[in-house]
Amino acid sequence: MTLEAETRETRKPPFYMRGNYAPVGDEATLTDLKTEGRVPDGLEGVYLRNGPNPPAGKTPGHWFMGDGMLHGLKLGGGKAHWYRNRWIQTKSLAGAKSMREDYSRDYSVGVSNTHVVPHGGNIYALVESSLPMRVSPELETLGNEDFGGKLDFAFTAHPKVCPVTGEMHAFGYGFAPPYLVYHRIGADGTYLQREEIAVTGPTMVHDFAMTRDHVIFMDLPVVFDLEIALKGGMPYAFSDSYPARLGILKRGAPASATRWVSVQPCYVFHVANAHEAADGTITIDVSRYDELWRRGAKRNFDASRLWRWTVRPGAPSADETPLDDLTLEFPRVDERLNGLPHRYAYAPVGVPFDHATEENFSALARYDMKTGARSIRRFGEAMMSEFVHVPKHAGAAEEDGWLLGFVFDAARGSSDFHILDAATLENAARIELPRRVPQGFHGSWCPDV
Ligand SMILES: [Fe+2]
Repeated sequence: MTLEAETRETRKPPFYMRGNYAPVGDEATLTDLKTEGRVPDGLEGVYLRNGPNPPAGKTPGHWFMGDGMLHGLKLGGGKAHWYRNRWIQTKSLAGAKSMREDYSRDYSVGVSNTHVVPHGGNIYALVESSLPMRVSPELETLGNEDFGGKLDFAFTAHPKVCPVTGEMHAFGYGFAPPYLVYHRIGADGTYLQREEIAVTGPTMVHDFAMTRDHVIFMDLPVVFDLEIALKGGMPYAFSDSYPARLGILKRGAPASATRWVSVQPCYVFHVANAHEAADGTITIDVSRYDELWRRGAKRNFDASRLWRWTVRPGAPSADETPLDDLTLEFPRVDERLNGLPHRYAYAPVGVPFDHATEENFSALARYDMKTGARSIRRFGEAMMSEFVHVPKHAGAAEEDGWLLGFVFDAARGSSDFHILDAATLENAARIELPRRVPQGFHGSWCPDV
């Protein structure tokens, strides 16, 4: 049964308004947090996580369309100082529309609900339809970022910060030409380059990949659908005719230099990481759906799995290899290795994954890409979100890190913040919150500077 049919039949609200997907109704600042174990020395900063949280009385047309709320945990001196949650004070939350009367887009209006990323001394709350929104480490909203007036287009929620140059590579997409635009931002926050990438049509482009020398765009067959758009839903659906391709562009090169290679039809929201060998072979590890939203976005999500695309020099298509059979999403790596070879990836997995109830992602998997080994940390009757890797200290080895994330404890009806050792997936600390943190999207560790 489709979600739409189920909702009609049972009169239940959609899944994203139920259980731990449901929004919370208020903002809180909590101190004196109950902590099991000890917050490790060296974790000095704030963990921020973003997600949709429509205010009371508002049911968006899709989980992805709810107004953004940040959740933050301030850590330091061996303890958790506070937990806060704050709506991001966007124009959208205040009731503004992103479409002007002449049907042009106002990119300063958006829900800012997907990711939160530090760069160049700023912290940006991001959603792929609009400009970045600057926020403070205390979760206050500071205002839109247009990089000195040079950005007037959508900006992805998944920019890639190069650990070697400090540059932030990004893109934006839209349903009217230009459909895809590459943005390059300097380490100091200066907008350096804008390139319009020629694609076949308007597709949903959630993430992209970066290597030491290239950026890789995913032009995949989830295509803008005007009919759905006019009904107010998430206006994209799977197409059997749209060609699935990867566009590979040397970092900083003009758009005309983009090399296109074909892949099997699929959809990918998230790239774990990508890197390239001395001979130019590019490896991209992704969370891949065989297809997505064939009958539109109101259908539940299908299963996505860990796959590898390998693009050899001169080849017209990528080699494609499934790496695991578990359902997973939100894969992350040690971000000091963005665009460089990584050994480990970490992702929430469903064991088992229940498509009917969406009661999914109750465990965290650690993948050793070198040996193929997989270890699993189960959280019992729980629902979990993405975990973020933080190195234990400057210069620490890749496996010498912490993993930070929220897990909803269904038995208690509230959430825990876990700090796991990245090597063993065992707890260093568990901070017990007296309230729920709804299922959300992405977060970052923002160290004190
Ligand atoms: Fe995402």
